Amino acid sequence: MKVLVLLSLFAVIVSADRYGLDMAVPVNVSTWRCWLNQGFSFASVRAYHSFGEIDENAPDSIANAIEAGFAPEDMAVYHFPCCCGAKKSADVQVAEMVDYLAQSQTNYSIVWFDVETNPSRNCGWSTDSDTNCAFLKDLISAAASRHLVTGIYASKYMWQSIMGGDRCTVGGDLPLWYPRYNQDPSFQDWAPFGGWTQPYMKQYWDHEPHCGVDADVSWRPN
Ligand SMILES: *[C@@H]1O[C@H](CO)[C@@H](O)[C@H](O)[C@H]1NC(C)=O
Ligand SMILES: *[C@@H]1O[C@H](CO)[C@@H](O)[C@H](O)[C@H]1NC(C)=O
Repeated sequence: MKVLVLLSLFAVIVSADRYGLDMAVPVNVSTWRCWLNQGFSFASVRAYHSFGEIDENAPDSIANAIEAGFAPEDMAVYHFPCCCGAKKSADVQVAEMVDYLAQSQTNYSIVWFDVETNPSRNCGWSTDSDTNCAFLKDLISAAASRHLVTGIYASKYMWQSIMGGDRCTVGGDLPLWYPRYNQDPSFQDWAPFGGWTQPYMKQYWDHEPHCGVDADVSWRPN
């Protein structure tokens, strides 16, 4: 009996499900407070535009989140890269973002690189998946050389069409954040691709309904 009670207590402690947000819009302190009250505890804020420029809203949004009560270590940024070096190299794109965030002493624990259709002019992914894979590798190296923790945002479908599926494993040992808008905070629907044997986080819905600001909703098991 005692063992059972202890075991179930342990299960509650280890399955510390966490819910978070990501957004491409500026967010003020009151909206972050509303999200905290809804049980969200981490966020990924866009810090680089798909058209190859910094997102100037990121530092203020992250500072507002911390002011509202989010832990600095629970704040992340995402970088929507402009493929594949015609406009700016991978290194320049990462440097621009990192330098801008450093100027404002912005706290973030991880940089997510966004692998999905890029609609911006002269920034779309190449039709050659090896070119795309090499470019992503350059982005990862650019972040690693600046001692950043990096993760990849991609669905199996996007990885197949942009990176050529299992041909490209440059992100395989990094955390994977994958989208599937089925409103199910679980990994039950996940299937391996691109060298990943398990995901880190799932974006399970593209609409946060409570606080009046456009954000996607994510879940992770710890
Ligand atoms: C915060 O942002 C929300 C959503 O844009 C807006 O409705 C609200 O008025 C803002 N609050 C303050 C105090 O600026
Ligand atoms: C970043 O985090 C550190 C450590 O928690 C804190 O001292 C600092 O004030 C934070 N910076 C900002 C801009 O919130």
